[in-house]
Amino acid sequence: MYLIVSKRALNDAGTTYEMVIEAPLVAKRCRAGQFVVLRLDEYGERIPLTIADYDRAAGTITVMFQPTGATTNMLKLLEPGERLSDVAGPMGRPTETAGLRTAAVLGGGVGCAIAYPVAKELHRCGIEVDMIAGFRSKNIIVLEREMEQVCTNLYMCTDDGSYGFHGFTTQKLEELIRGGRKYDTIFALGPTPMMKFACIATKPYNVRTIVSLNPIMIDATGMCGCCRVTVGGETKFACVDGPEFDGHLVDWDELIARNSFYKEEEAEKAGHVCRLTGGVRHAE
Ligand SMILES: Cc1cc2nc3c(=O)[nH]c(=O)nc-3n(C[C@H](O)[C@H](O)[C@H](O)COP(=O)(O)OP(=O)(O)OC[C@H]3O[C@@H](n4cnc5c(N)ncnc54)[C@H](O)[C@@H]3O)c2cc1C
Ligand code: FES
Repeated sequence: MYLIVSKRALNDAGTTYEMVIEAPLVAKRCRAGQFVVLRLDEYGERIPLTIADYDRAAGTITVMFQPTGATTNMLKLLEPGERLSDVAGPMGRPTETAGLRTAAVLGGGVGCAIAYPVAKELHRCGIEVDMIAGFRSKNIIVLEREMEQVCTNLYMCTDDGSYGFHGFTTQKLEELIRGGRKYDTIFALGPTPMMKFACIATKPYNVRTIVSLNPIMIDATGMCGCCRVTVGGETKFACVDGPEFDGHLVDWDELIARNSFYKEEEAEKAGHVCRLTGGVRHAE
């Protein structure tokens, strides 16, 4: 059983939560770009969440999540002192930083939880990092102070212009590239449509663009085949071959179609009986 050490909402709107969990074996070995698979209780579904941070000495890892469906909404209701039945990991391949001197890291919404540890690792390796973080509006911004600490330049963007650059992260990126900024690699991390459009934007400039794919995962050990994606015409399992891939080679239309496969079941499950508490918890 894995103790919840702390939990907090990362903005007043409560769109994203941070949870610190005692998981010494994961904390000992994890690296940026990797994830864990959680189960709330023995009947719970397995959900993958990125390891947003870790403290090897304290034996803890940090996850950040958006309550989007049944499990993440139940996770949000757990309090420090309560325990999760499983935290398996670290899963996936770590972010590759070798040979890089300059990088841009794009994070979209809760994707900033995935972008933050990548930027932090690049920064730690002495790589010059431009971080471009995008949100729909000012009231749902998260991690601004944390991101500032792990990059050379931070560009905040909002879709509605309520804070920072008025527009999408991809527009800010194109502005920087057209202004003469050169990147060895661009990391685009966030919702699938954002990653797809980031790749379309970077293709004409021929800059290597790495994305972190988020297909449905079940076992996350390469055995069930659920997370298969097509990259460069080959079938890959995102859980063991990724989750990071060259975005210019990803078959985005297939990924988007496969991710909407269980929409009806997910909607149905959003009001199921929680065995952890015995109560019915509805997704908001
Ligand atoms: C490698 C990886 C890392 C991720 N990291 C984060 C993170 O750091 N923070 C965060 O908020 N979210 C992250 N996600 C997405 C997260 O796993 C889903 O939001 C979560 O599983 C939703 O479960 P639910 O029951 O609350 O919602 P549901 O209603 O079941 O699903 C909501 C949406 O989440 C996705 N999803 C559902 N089940 C899974 C599953 N088993 N595997 C993958 N996606 C699923 C689907 O797109 C679905 O439409 C990550 C996904 C992957 C694959
Ligand atoms: S989740 Fe089963 S093979 Fe990747």
